Amino acid sequence: MLAEKYASEIERILAKYPPEHKRSAVMPLLYLAQREYGHVTQEAMQEVADILGLDRTEVGALVGFYTLYYDEAEGKYRIQVCTDLPCALRGAEEFAEALCENLGIRLGETTPDGLITVEAVKCLAACDKAPMFQLQEPEGIHYHEEQTLESALKLVEELRRRESHG
Ligand code: FES
Repeated sequence: MLAEKYASEIERILAKYPPEHKRSAVMPLLYLAQREYGHVTQEAMQEVADILGLDRTEVGALVGFYTLYYDEAEGKYRIQVCTDLPCALRGAEEFAEALCENLGIRLGETTPDGLITVEAVKCLAACDKAPMFQLQEPEGIHYHEEQTLESALKLVEELRRRESHG
């Protein structure tokens, strides 16, 4: 249970918000849950809801809305390519398709080794640096800008190498 395992971390998160705005802590708590369970499980949504006195469906709606959170176990690494209009005009869609084709998956799918998920997301506020994506990995989120198929495949190779060396 998050409430027990991370009692002091949760306390620190809650302390950042005035009591009447306690529900604002839902975002960092969901992030904590995702870090703990690998994705936001139904049980985790309930745990977060209980901590904040919210309804589980309210928490679930947030998980569904934000690309930062995912409610299904997918790739350990998530390559989230922005394909919103300004990026699309700079070739983001073709980039995403070519990347997926090289990985043998379709957009939104995960490689058979369970390592990499590629998905399309909305604006990540780096429109002039397209094609770009954010990489969600256990260590955090990192931007990769002005990408080419080659640079992205090199990164994938690097991630695979990292995994095979444990
Ligand atoms: S439209 Fe892609 S980062 Fe803004």
